Amino acid sequence: MKKILVINGPNLNLLGGREPKIYGKTSLDEINQMIEERAKKIGCEVKIKQSNYEGEIVSLIGEAKSWANGIIINPAAYTHTSIAIRDAITSVNLPTVEVHLSNIYKREKFRQTSFIAGVCVGQITGFGPQGYLLALDALMSIFEKEEKNEAKRN
Ligand code: DQA
Repeated sequence: MKKILVINGPNLNLLGGREPKIYGKTSLDEINQMIEERAKKIGCEVKIKQSNYEGEIVSLIGEAKSWANGIIINPAAYTHTSIAIRDAITSVNLPTVEVHLSNIYKREKFRQTSFIAGVCVGQITGFGPQGYLLALDALMSIFEKEEKNEAKRN
């Protein structure tokens, strides 16, 4: 079974009460439950983490090399600042999808730059919690394609 690491960055532990007009009223626990349910339905395993610390996120990505097939990450504010997280993603070379609850391109100028998107297979932004589910589907279709190509080669 394919294994996916889901990482949420700083302040996302406060979802539900944090700027609900922008991020909605769904808590992180509720989002995580939606992710778990979706994963069960489509047949993959997820490990879900949240951290307010850049270094911890870097370590989680580095460790994923040994067990995960792909990564879903909402780097939160680190999206716009972190070369360390970008380098971690490049280092492990696992297919990674960047997710944002809000549409970062409709917001302040400083949020419209992502240091992360350029090393991801794609970015999903503006669909609220559903973005995580779309990211799961996207990774699963990438895995399927990889398997088909592998089978063709053999
Ligand atoms: C966010 C967007 C970021 O700009 C912001 O710093 C966040 C959340 C989102 O999910 O919309 O914390 O990543």
